[in-house]
Amino acid sequence: MAGSTAAAAIVGGSLYGGYTASDKGPSLRYFATVMKKNKISPFLKNNPSIFPNTSVQISSTGLWESKKRSRAVVVSAKMFVDEMRSVAMKLHTKDQAKEGGRKSSSSNKPIGKLQPSVEGYLKFLVDSKIVYDTLESIVQNSANPSYAKFKNTGLERSEKLVKDLEWFKKLGHTIPEPSSPGTNYARYLEQLSETDPPGFICHFYNVYFAHSAGGRMIGKKVAGMILDDKELEFYKWDGDLKELLQHVRDDINEIANSWSREEKDHCLEQTAMSFECSGEILQLVLSS
Ligand code: HEM
Repeated sequence: MAGSTAAAAIVGGSLYGGYTASDKGPSLRYFATVMKKNKISPFLKNNPSIFPNTSVQISSTGLWESKKRSRAVVVSAKMFVDEMRSVAMKLHTKDQAKEGGRKSSSSNKPIGKLQPSVEGYLKFLVDSKIVYDTLESIVQNSANPSYAKFKNTGLERSEKLVKDLEWFKKLGHTIPEPSSPGTNYARYLEQLSETDPPGFICHFYNVYFAHSAGGRMIGKKVAGMILDDKELEFYKWDGDLKELLQHVRDDINEIANSWSREEKDHCLEQTAMSFECSGEILQLVLSS
């Protein structure tokens, strides 16, 4: 397990002894000495760019991990987006994801074990669309330079949902009006984007990344149950999804580098709200 390797590195420091960072930063020998005294962790957490070419991560236990890549030691401190992911994963139930930190209850049964309806699924798609419309118009039009980074990430879902709703309409289904889970969340996001950028970015991350992970699984299950396995546009991306997600992770990390620890914690605290709002929209799949 990585934690025990890391512990050995702290105690012995030998993992780092022979290397010197190839940039003008401090040598790794110095780094090992400071690490040994175990005083650097909070410092590095707040200054992750100080060893820009050094492969160092802070594990969830607060211990250290290092990787030697070919001869150069490449790297970065544990990035903020890893903290965001870790908080999000703890809010999943064990049924939803292996890393889930919550027990399943009757109110959060896996969707695959319940019976969705096309009407309910359409409500879910319409309410999802209003959330994506809102997120995408905020990043396109905001004066906040941090949001500009999220223009044209390739993760946008609004236009894909337009196509899917047209497809349902052609089949003779009535497209419902947006309902309160979607409209309330959209209004909340608009307010947050103006008053609280770290909070807004938490929702931005969770909405897009949840859809790329659990959202896709759910879409596949529902399609198997009620759509004859039809793959909707909502679940297709132009380009390599992994790469698109990584670019957004990098951008979030860059923005978060300028945040104080308080701002970072405030961002993480919004995760629960994001789960609650998205969870309500998800429940629409099961409504009639
Ligand atoms: C029935 C509901 C859900 C299911 C079944 C589900 C399932 C999953 C699964 C299987 C993963 C992948 C774990 C891995 O990387 O191994 C995941 C990741 C994730 N989920 Fe969910 N999830 C659900 C709801 C949500 C909600 C409501 C949110 C927040 C709005 C959310 C946010 C995330 C995030 C941020 C990740 C990490 C994605 C990444 O690192 O690429 N999930 N989820």
